[in-house]
Amino acid sequence: MADTSAKARIDELREQLNLHNYRYHVLDSPLIGDSDYDAMLVELRQLESFNPDLVTPDSPTQRVGAAPSPEFHEVQHPQPMLSLGNAFNDDDLLAWHTRAAGLLEVDSFAMVCEPKIDGLAIALTYENGKLLRGATRGDGLRGEDVTPNVRTISSVPLALQSGQKLPARIEVRGEVYMPRDAFAQLNEARTERGEQLIANPRNGAAGSLRQLDPNITAQRRLDVWIYALGWTEGGTTPDTHTDVMAWLRDLGFRVNPELRRVESLQGVTDYHTEWSESRFHKNYQTDGVVIKIDRLDYQRHLGIVGREPRWATAFKFPAEQAITKLLAIKINVGRTGALNPYAELEPVQVSGVTIQNATLHNEQDISRKDIREGDYVIIERAGEVIPRVVGPVLDRRDPESVPFEMPSECPSCGTPVIHEEGEAAHRCVNSRCPAQQYERIRHFVSKAAMDIEGLGEKLVAVLLEQEFIADFPDIYKLTEDQLAGMERMGEKSAANLVSAIKQSKARPLAAVIAALGIFHVGGETAELLARRFGSVHRLMDTTEDELQAIPGIGPIVAQSIVEHYQNEGNRLIVTELAQAGVTLEAEVSPETDTPQPFVGMRFVVTGRLDGFTRSETEGFIKERGGQVTGSVSKKTSYVVVGEEPGSKADDAQRLEIPSLTEAALRALAEDSQMGEEQA
Ligand code: IVH
Repeated sequence: MADTSAKARIDELREQLNLHNYRYHVLDSPLIGDSDYDAMLVELRQLESFNPDLVTPDSPTQRVGAAPSPEFHEVQHPQPMLSLGNAFNDDDLLAWHTRAAGLLEVDSFAMVCEPKIDGLAIALTYENGKLLRGATRGDGLRGEDVTPNVRTISSVPLALQSGQKLPARIEVRGEVYMPRDAFAQLNEARTERGEQLIANPRNGAAGSLRQLDPNITAQRRLDVWIYALGWTEGGTTPDTHTDVMAWLRDLGFRVNPELRRVESLQGVTDYHTEWSESRFHKNYQTDGVVIKIDRLDYQRHLGIVGREPRWATAFKFPAEQAITKLLAIKINVGRTGALNPYAELEPVQVSGVTIQNATLHNEQDISRKDIREGDYVIIERAGEVIPRVVGPVLDRRDPESVPFEMPSECPSCGTPVIHEEGEAAHRCVNSRCPAQQYERIRHFVSKAAMDIEGLGEKLVAVLLEQEFIADFPDIYKLTEDQLAGMERMGEKSAANLVSAIKQSKARPLAAVIAALGIFHVGGETAELLARRFGSVHRLMDTTEDELQAIPGIGPIVAQSIVEHYQNEGNRLIVTELAQAGVTLEAEVSPETDTPQPFVGMRFVVTGRLDGFTRSETEGFIKERGGQVTGSVSKKTSYVVVGEEPGSKADDAQRLEIPSLTEAALRALAEDSQMGEEQA
């Protein structure tokens, strides 16, 4: 394609992708499906790879790929980032209102109520509509530059909506948070790997945003709600908070639709009451509601005391705790055989909801807190939807009680339990264990995997119990007659289910790989594997070395995949799925066509590059099996040096690490490849 037409198409794709991203993340009303979006992104990526000089930082292809950095740079906030005073009850709230009304010399004023998101504050600066910087709050005056990480958050616009009147520079503020489902998924993966759990979504968000390697942030599925305008240069801004928020939304920012303008304190308390009940059903965690005076001239008049504005306050939710009796510690066997203890409780009300079960994490957690069956325990629903046991009330302990011990046999199949050193979880290693089969199949049919609608938990249990199915391939043998004969299943639902099962055969390869239930292989790893191998059969016959050469795949995951397919039963499942007609190949050709001359080499890229953008150079290296790191050390194989290189080039000289120009890098790739072919 000629350059000018490529440029036109690139511009068009970017505008389209930007619009669809906005429709999806901000307006919550997508116009197209994921696969159409992905197809446009693939096309754009391809065009950009042929025309590297047309790549710009605000291109939707440029969300990931920045190299890890050795440290964060400090950022001075042009306007301090404030905190909020608290109100814990109606009296506190009235006191706040009375003071503001007194200073304003008015009886009442309109306010805006909004959820107080439990994450961490971020300031996003845009110049001429393009994202320039993302910075954390820090101490309010100085924060950290986390731009490469912020860029990985899909709902943060890289470019603002075109067609809007824009100030030359604008800074908006909001809260970055980890959605509850992402948090649960992250902890699930950590449990599987025997890693320490993250205490709550807030810590999850903070830990993910303050990662020196943006590729890790990218895997964490963070999100953002924008709640205020920081400052602008050039252009005019609205007069009320309500209008500012509507304007920011039009510019492309994700503004919470739950904002409500109220005229009186009664409106505030109503909003607070509604939220103390509904907050547990949102996919983000909140710890109160924020009340802001709507008129910005009133806000300016009231000003700030210390670090807290007089024109806003946080009306907190009460602590969500209760005490009840721990009837028993039960065990649930997960799909990979991990034994997960949970508490069966005497039903108790916590913040308007009856609680009967709570998580107990693992044995260490139970023994550290010394939680025993029969104890009265404190239950908390502060963060997660699933409540947790904080600890026992020792004064009320029965003197006869005994410390808890994990069972030595699997409660589902009786196989002796294994507890490997260094692993938090106890495991049942019987792959035919009914509890594991159930969890494996539940996972297989779930939305993120084969997405078979209508095959819910109860039905899976019944199908297993009646021996209609034993493993994944059997699902594809189910017939309408068989299903229609089952309890509470009409002909119509049977037909729908069979059709959903049939549809699932065409799921994308990454979803199929994730569905297979390979230990340590979740959705993200499955994506990497699908991209690299393009086929389940190729994956089955890979080696640990080949796997470890893929950026993002470490030794534990590599070993787990290889071991999985050393098992004949697992290979047979793949054969049977293929016979059933399940897609086991990707539609596009895998990346493995690229030779891998850089396996085992570490590169550092510094300075301005001409032919390639920085992220393309890094992509070039990674695609060929090399690793890219942020700082030069003795382990560095080569430093790729562009124009005006930074201190890294000096480090390279000092440590006597060879440096390469971009052309030399390409030559090295070709030379090594030829060497490989000759060998
Ligand atoms: S307004 C005066 N609005 O709460 C400006 N803050 O405790 C202060 N927060 O640092 C921010 N949700 O990180 C505002 N809807 C919301 C918020 C919110 C969460 C956080 C913010 C701030 C902290 C203060």
